[in-house]
Amino acid sequence: MFAFSKEAEEKIEKILKKYPEERKRSALLPLLTLVQRQERHVNPDAMREIGRRLDLSPAYVQSVCSFYTMYSSKPVGKYLILFCVNISCQLNGCDVLLAHTAKKLNIEIGGTTNDMKFSLHREECLAACSGGPMMRINDTFYENLTAAKIDQILDSLD
Ligand code: FES
Repeated sequence: MFAFSKEAEEKIEKILKKYPEERKRSALLPLLTLVQRQERHVNPDAMREIGRRLDLSPAYVQSVCSFYTMYSSKPVGKYLILFCVNISCQLNGCDVLLAHTAKKLNIEIGGTTNDMKFSLHREECLAACSGGPMMRINDTFYENLTAAKIDQILDSLD
């Protein structure tokens, strides 16, 4: 059985107040985000619990959850790196930098370091095209990347 943390419960209370009872399904993405942050993934128990609270079937919750790349079915690292590989970033060399990042972390793209510190995923456009190549690490955007800048960023994270 899945349990939200006390902090998450307080946030849920505030989130649900934003929506009328008949529209509480609109809280689905915020609740999935809370689970992703708490557990670093969203498992079937959590989907059932969200469905119970929002009067949604687990299948519906799962269908929404699996659509968005920011939710993961398997635990991700403390730092989830989403590396944009869309057109603007690609024209500015993201492929080389993504490969550099994977090599530095010694993982495959899509993988997680053994110490569960970093996960590295390809991502579609993150709407920071003028700053490409770019990556998002958890909630922070890093733009105009170079190999040296990536090294510096990754080395600075505890
Ligand atoms: S193409 Fe990379 S942020 Fe838009």
